[in-house]
Amino acid sequence: MKDMFRLDGKVAVVTGGAGGIGEALALGLGYQGATVVVSSRNQQTIDAVAEKISTKTGSEALALAADVTDESSIQSLVDAVVEKYGKIDILVNAMGMNIKRDAFDYPLEDWDKLFEVNVKGTMAACKVVGRVMRDQHQGAIVNLSSVRGIRGYTGGNAGYCATKGAVELITKALALEWAPSGIRVNALGPALVITPGTKHIAEDPQLAAKYAAAVPMGRIGMPEDMVGAVVFLCSDAASFVSGQTIYVDGGLTAA
Ligand SMILES: NC(=O)c1ccc[n+]([C@@H]2O[C@H](COP(=O)([O-])OP(=O)(O)OC[C@H]3O[C@@H](n4cnc5c(N)ncnc54)[C@H](OP(=O)(O)O)[C@@H]3O)[C@@H](O)[C@H]2O)c1
Repeated sequence: MKDMFRLDGKVAVVTGGAGGIGEALALGLGYQGATVVVSSRNQQTIDAVAEKISTKTGSEALALAADVTDESSIQSLVDAVVEKYGKIDILVNAMGMNIKRDAFDYPLEDWDKLFEVNVKGTMAACKVVGRVMRDQHQGAIVNLSSVRGIRGYTGGNAGYCATKGAVELITKALALEWAPSGIRVNALGPALVITPGTKHIAEDPQLAAKYAAAVPMGRIGMPEDMVGAVVFLCSDAASFVSGQTIYVDGGLTAA
C-alpha cells in the first residue's frame, strides 16, 4: 500500500512526448521515479523534453524519434528501448492531431490523415509495445482520448470526434483481449487543455471566457491537470483498473 503511486524502476514510453500534454505527462512520470523514453517525429523537440525531465526530476530520460503511423518505425523504437532497458512497463500514447472541416465538404483525404495518426497510430503503438508486455506478462497502457470521444461537437470536429470514439473502443477491446496477458489498457479523456496548439484561446479573453463557462468548474484545463490521472492509471494503485476512460474535464461530461 505504501508508495502505491510511485513508478520507481518502471520504464515508460510516451509517444507525442513533445506535445503540450505529452510533455507534462512525461515529466509527471519522471517525478514519480520512472525512466522515461520520450518519442515523436522531431528529434530536436524530444531531446529538449528528455533534458528537462532528467534535470527537473532526476529520473533517467531518453529521446527516440518514431512515427506512429509507420509500424517499422515503432518497432525500431521498441527494439531500442528493450535493448537498453530490457523491458517496457508503461506506454502513454499522447500523440494526436485535429483537422477541422465543415462536414458537408469534409475532404476525405483529411479524414484519412486524422484516422492515420489518431486511430492507426494508437493501435500500432499498442500492438508493438503490447507484444513486449505480453512476454513480460505485465504492462499498463494509457491512450489519449478526449471528451470528444463520447460527446459530439460542432465546429468541424466530426472527424476528430470519430477518431476519439475509436480510441475509446480500441482501449476497451484491448483491455478485454489482453487482460489474460497481464496488460491493463485505459484512456484519458481531457476537455480543452491549453497547449501551444490551443493557446490562442487563452490569449483571447472573450473566447477563453466562453470555453471556461462551458466547464462546470469554470476554467480551462492545463497540461498539469492531466498528470495525476495518468500517474494513477500507470501505477500499482490502478492494479485492478482496465478498460476505463478517466475524463479530466472539470465536470464537463457529468452532464
Ligand atoms: N489540447 C487539448 O485541448 C486536448 C483535449 C483533448 C484531447 N487531446 C488529445 O491529447 C493528445 C495530445 O494533445 P496535445 O494538445 O498535447 O497535442 P500537440 O501539442 O499537438 O502534440 C501532439 C504530439 O504528437 C506528436 N505526433 C503527431 N503526429 C505524430 C506521428 N505521426 N508520430 C509520432 N508522433 C506524432 C507531435 O510531435 P511531432 O509533430 O514532432 O511528431 C506532438 O509531440 C492528442 O491525442 C489530443 O487529441 C488534446
